[in-house]
Amino acid sequence: MSVPPRDPFGWLDDAAEQRRRAGLARTLRPRPADSPLLDLAGNDYLGLSRHPGVTGAAAAAARRWGAGSTGSRLVTGSTALHAELEEALAEFCGFEAALVLSSGYAANLAAVTALTAPGTLLVSDAANHASLIDGCRLSRADTAVVPHADTDAVRKALDAHDRRAVAVSDSVFSVDGDAAPLPALAAACREHGAALLVDDAHGLGVLGDGGRGGPYAAGLAGAYDTVVTVTLSKSLGSQGGAVLGPRRVIEHLLNTARTFIFDTGLAPAATGAALAALRLLRGEPDRPDRVRGVAAELHRRLTGAGLTARAPDAAVVSVRAPSPEAAVRWAADLRTEGIAVGCFRPPSVPDGVSRLRLTARADLDAEQVGRAVEAVIRTAPRGA
Ligand SMILES: Cc1ncc(COP(=O)(O)O)c(C=O)c1O
Repeated sequence: MSVPPRDPFGWLDDAAEQRRRAGLARTLRPRPADSPLLDLAGNDYLGLSRHPGVTGAAAAAARRWGAGSTGSRLVTGSTALHAELEEALAEFCGFEAALVLSSGYAANLAAVTALTAPGTLLVSDAANHASLIDGCRLSRADTAVVPHADTDAVRKALDAHDRRAVAVSDSVFSVDGDAAPLPALAAACREHGAALLVDDAHGLGVLGDGGRGGPYAAGLAGAYDTVVTVTLSKSLGSQGGAVLGPRRVIEHLLNTARTFIFDTGLAPAATGAALAALRLLRGEPDRPDRVRGVAAELHRRLTGAGLTARAPDAAVVSVRAPSPEAAVRWAADLRTEGIAVGCFRPPSVPDGVSRLRLTARADLDAEQVGRAVEAVIRTAPRGA
């Protein structure tokens, strides 16, 4: 008698049911082009993704160079636009050279894996972004995960090792919006001859003189031992990522980083849009001040009403929720009120605490900020 074949995906139903019971099920909610929601959920910190100068540059680049880049960067995927963007990014952030990749995720995988080998020590902050964590996993280096923002722990890990070492940290942590102690981290690395790799996804366009980023603000621009990754998808309102650093590091990445070599080059539209956004930022250096001002205002008024949130170091304000279910309900109630906010819950939070994540934007006006604050307070669950 033949045995019925086992359903290879049967286990997925149990997994889905467990997620649903724990309040951790996720769904996609495609947004309409002209959404009436007030957006405090996206990462368009400077309000540039719909700026006519940026969308116009995207359209012009697509018309001139094509919808796709047609190949990997080392074959046909590099255009004059890519070279221009690399030069502009390096110059703006104060580094010798830059390499553009198809996403910030790819940039992090590239930087971590290219700078390490089996036997290298990688010291990684416990709250680092998933893409840095995945880079550590892919690298096959010896990874020491240290408590969040604990420079003494970084120093201790480096003390215990006399081989090549790299310390890795977000510059602004995406969940709580707190900044890493970059000057102290850099000093610890320098004492040990270790490299420092900083993911400035949430710092570029928000921190530092005119938005030059967290490493620039920390006095690390152009440092011989510092490498920075950025995304083009947040403050620059486009898509893509880049690695910035000493020319010999960039040269090494170009020759060895698998997510650079084996990936199709960034689309011309995204490349042109990022370049236009960078030029706009240069011409309007008060945009970063405005976004930080809006974040401070959100924090002041929400904590003034008794909600729990740490003071923002950049554009992200995270408000604690008492449980994952309460966070989901809170975000849904806000949607009904016309406000879109992010909702972070396990496994996306390192400490298991669920939060509403509000992002400030340079283009929010006083009425919009007031409306958002009042709605967040009005819909707050008991225990928040
Ligand atoms: C800290 C951090 N690093 C890297 C990334 C990945 O960048 P990208 O979305 O361009 O892949 C993100 C977010 O998306 C991020 O928040």
